[in-house]
Amino acid sequence: MKNRNLGRGVAVVGVGNSHFGAFADKSSRDLFVEAYADLRGSVDKGMDPRTIEALYLGNFSSELFEGQGHTAPIMADAVGLLPVPAVRVEDACASGGVALRQGIMAIASGLNDVVLVGGVERMTRLPIAQVTDALGAAADVLYEVPAGFTFPGLYATIASAYMHAYGMQPEHLMNVAIKNHDNGALNPKAQFGVTIADWMQSRIAAAIKKGKPAPAWGNVQDFLHDDAANPMVAWPLRLFDCSPVTDGAACVLLVSAERAHEFTDAPVQIIGSGQASDAPLHGRAALTTLAAARGAAQNAYAQAGVTAADIRLAEVHDCFTIAEVIATEDLGFFAPGTGFRAAEDGVTARDGARPINTSGGLKSKGHPVGASGVAQVVEVFKQMRGEAGPRQIAGDLPLALTHNVGATGSTCVVHIYERKG
Ligand code: COA
Repeated sequence: MKNRNLGRGVAVVGVGNSHFGAFADKSSRDLFVEAYADLRGSVDKGMDPRTIEALYLGNFSSELFEGQGHTAPIMADAVGLLPVPAVRVEDACASGGVALRQGIMAIASGLNDVVLVGGVERMTRLPIAQVTDALGAAADVLYEVPAGFTFPGLYATIASAYMHAYGMQPEHLMNVAIKNHDNGALNPKAQFGVTIADWMQSRIAAAIKKGKPAPAWGNVQDFLHDDAANPMVAWPLRLFDCSPVTDGAACVLLVSAERAHEFTDAPVQIIGSGQASDAPLHGRAALTTLAAARGAAQNAYAQAGVTAADIRLAEVHDCFTIAEVIATEDLGFFAPGTGFRAAEDGVTARDGARPINTSGGLKSKGHPVGASGVAQVVEVFKQMRGEAGPRQIAGDLPLALTHNVGATGSTCVVHIYERKG
């Protein structure tokens, strides 16, 4: 796949995140306004909204989730950006990452100097059965959905193929969930910002308070093996292997590299952008790797002039625990068939050699699908600038990466970041 360099440098100079969660009283507009206000506060030298020339908005399906189409100008209006061009970008759960790529292209081409990239999804208004149907529209509705597949089912297929190929056990996936909840517990914007150990203790306390016998869980693994506490969703994936259904928004301010100093002395430059596509899951030769992720990563690495070995920190698309395992292999961090050992061995922990999903990932932070790819940039920006608070990883972080997947890998988009200043 041919890959050219960016026409000019593009930098991130501000980021914002709404709280992620289930908010019966908040519309998409409210969530986007919250994220935008957070972004405005993050720009070191301040920002005049009149400098913003365009909005690229990641959103999977505001029609299905809220009955509202034509979402981008509505968000532009909500944050006072009219009459700038406002474009909605849809590539399933990769909508946010692809919106970022559109914003990068607008600046790299010389068309714009200052662009707002956003992502928003309000999913929890619908009952879970309808949410599942809406998400199913991102799979193949001709062959996969009529066969009974839901997204947990599709990723369970990937997980069982991986177990068969490499001898992974469900317990290895539990380690990914435990690690991501450990991280999310330090993220005040996370939907499930609590460790699984604390979750277990609160269940025990609740049982005792109700006068019921305390569950006999000796440790977190007992809790995660309990069908009542952690029910099977689609074998081998249980509840705690799944990202939740989430309302949330995120945004980032992109500017041309030559104008970054107007906004901050510590910009984060985007030095690599790669995207690739693939057939729906049923049409693939291999189930244990995402060709689109490998293609997107290769392009991003080539454009950035770096290799996987140079990247220390990454936010990857862990919509299900198995997705994180495969992502770390497709990105070249670990050899095929070995990624499942990384969480077990602590390599991907905050204090490990290659921290993955320090934000809590989609699993703990939440997965408002159109916003998730943008929220990944929020975390990387904060970590690279030493602003991630209690979850800040130690040491120098000159390079980082984000990896955002649409559906089961029909789309993947990878970006590489370099700290300047
Ligand atoms: N992880 C851990 N706990 C979860 C959870 C998750 N992903 N989702 C919900 N819970 C908890 C809730 O907090 C609640 O706990 P409580 O009883 O102590 O209050 C309990 O489980 C039931 O919550 P509820 O909202 O009724 O769950 P649900 O059955 O409606 O949804 C899933 C659970 C797994 C079906 C849903 O989260 C899901 O579909 N996830 C996948 C989303 C997806 O496919 N995204 C696209 C990826 S490509």
